[in-house]
Amino acid sequence: LGKRMSEDFSSCLRDIPDFPSPGIIFKDISPLLANPQKFTAVIEAMAKLVKDKEIDYLLGIDSRGFIFAAALAQKLNLGMVMARKPGKLPGDVVSQSYELEYGTATLEIQTDAFKAGDRVLIIDDVLATGGTARAAGDLVEKMGAQTAGFAFFVELEFLNGKQVLDSSSVTSLVKF
Ligand code: PRP
Ligand code: MG
Repeated sequence: LGKRMSEDFSSCLRDIPDFPSPGIIFKDISPLLANPQKFTAVIEAMAKLVKDKEIDYLLGIDSRGFIFAAALAQKLNLGMVMARKPGKLPGDVVSQSYELEYGTATLEIQTDAFKAGDRVLIIDDVLATGGTARAAGDLVEKMGAQTAGFAFFVELEFLNGKQVLDSSSVTSLVKF
């Protein structure tokens, strides 16, 4: 009664074939960011997904994760921390390397970002293989904080990224 189907946000994405390499279909979020009504609706929907979680900080992952984490931080009235690609953050950092399809990548967080026991929700635009989000979660735990969960705009379910995370704590708005 008075219930509506949840909004379909898949139209806010554009498929770009063979980017960044042949055979990959890239999910371009530019159409979403260009549409203020849709972007607001996405942030409100993501905020609802995590509303029952106990969270001290949001952790945004460099670089597209920053867009969603910053907007959600405002919506939820929470502080945001950046997990950055190497060499970008000043001062002491904690680092975590992870495997990509070809080679490795690294994320860093400033060592004073969290207090022991802080509950941290990890935010990114897309969950693909899960390597990036897993590295962010490992960083949070290395620092003595706790992972409160993971929230994504898009989840590419066929890549099984949830399997490398604690799958019970993963939420996403659009699934392919
Ligand atoms: C993309 C995307 C996620 C990650 C997902 O980031 O924004 O962060 O890949 O992939 P995974 O689940 O297989 O690890 P990318 O490294 O392309 O960098 P960007 O956010 O700076 O564009
Ligand atoms: Mg990214």
